[in-house]
Amino acid sequence: MHDFKYKNNRLYCEGIAVAEIAKKVGTPFYLYSRKTIIDHYRKLKTAFREVDPLICYSVKANSSLAILKVLVNEGAGLDIVSGGELYRARRVGVDPKRIVYAGVGKTQTEIDAGLKAGILFFNVESLNELYLLNQRAGALNKRPYAAIRVNPNVSARTHKYITTGRHENKFGLDFTTARWIFFNSNKFPHVRLRGLHVHIGSQIVNSGPFLSAIKKVRNFVVGLKGLGVKVEYLNIGGGLGIIYKDERPQTADEYARVVVPILKDTGLKIILEPGRFIVGNAGILVTRVSYVKQTKNKNFIIVDAGMSDFIRPTLYEAYHEVLPGTKTRARTRKFDVVGPICETGDFFALNRKMAEPAEGNLLAVMSAGAYGFSMSSNYNSRVKPCEVMVVAKKSFVIRKREGCKDLVRGEVLPTALK
Ligand code: LLP
Repeated sequence: MHDFKYKNNRLYCEGIAVAEIAKKVGTPFYLYSRKTIIDHYRKLKTAFREVDPLICYSVKANSSLAILKVLVNEGAGLDIVSGGELYRARRVGVDPKRIVYAGVGKTQTEIDAGLKAGILFFNVESLNELYLLNQRAGALNKRPYAAIRVNPNVSARTHKYITTGRHENKFGLDFTTARWIFFNSNKFPHVRLRGLHVHIGSQIVNSGPFLSAIKKVRNFVVGLKGLGVKVEYLNIGGGLGIIYKDERPQTADEYARVVVPILKDTGLKIILEPGRFIVGNAGILVTRVSYVKQTKNKNFIIVDAGMSDFIRPTLYEAYHEVLPGTKTRARTRKFDVVGPICETGDFFALNRKMAEPAEGNLLAVMSAGAYGFSMSSNYNSRVKPCEVMVVAKKSFVIRKREGCKDLVRGEVLPTALK
């Protein structure tokens, strides 16, 4: 499942002791295993081989250039949601014909950038976006492919903040509007309507919701094709859940076994947009214990990483394992593992039974590869941590730790304030 394992009680990433890397780069830092990333990508690729899909890794999950490069080298395309992600995609040299672009709020500048880059698909999420895309395509003399993102009104049975396929969510269009668009394509002469897109949420552990959503969209597309509409692509989104604690998510094979049979006889080219499945368990956040603090009510382990570095526990009350850099025989007790930030929500674990660490010990927040660094901030004027990747038993800094100068980069003190 991943390549972070104990050897002689010390935590290793592939062949390297995490403590050795900490000595070199300091703490906190994110640590990724290239091998795990590739293994997960290949698992999905192999599971879906019958339909030979284009797998567009969802850049938002972890957008570091080195991670993108690993996947692009494997043949992945990229799923983007902003001009910034398009820039990153271009920086790693992905073929623009392997880029798909979703998001409800694409600006004119972003649409223009996508048009000029010649990306494979704009995944359109509203009628007005389609009008704008058509207008900009005309102005720039382009004929982009567009897919309509449909909202199938299916519950993903996941955290409410990461559910996207219900009618009350802002994403996608209902089937009636989508049908209207395909039958009124002459209103969008500069756009080639060639696909359907569906993505119902994230960290989905059960194939049921996927199946209902994809079936609905498949039947819709087959109906359209029967009426002479030229649909070539079906993008079934991302959303595959992973193990954080004791979840039993469908494996790539189980997922494929459920959906491939309903896709393979459609003649449609299939696109997948996984993020978390590929990088989630391929990364950890390594932090050092600053203080162990006992109060009347609680025991706190105060570490040098905080919610600015990793916000999932705070934002979603997400469970992440917290493991020691070195296993000890110290007595176990219940601790809150907290950061240094001035917020009560600044925690990685609450009431967690674990061996009492000594100050200076390392802890690893596990399964932090997805939506970790990519959601980090500079809150409390904290510098962002560095990122390290293990490649073939060697570690490489793939992003330097920020310094104080980075914190004020771009800020201006107006002369009027002197
Ligand atoms: N495609 C679209 C259109 C998406 O919006 C997303 C994620 C994905 C693909 C990739 O989903 P994945 O395979 O990673 O589940 N910050 C949250 C997750 C937000 C997901 C946003 N969209 C978290 O930390 O759980």
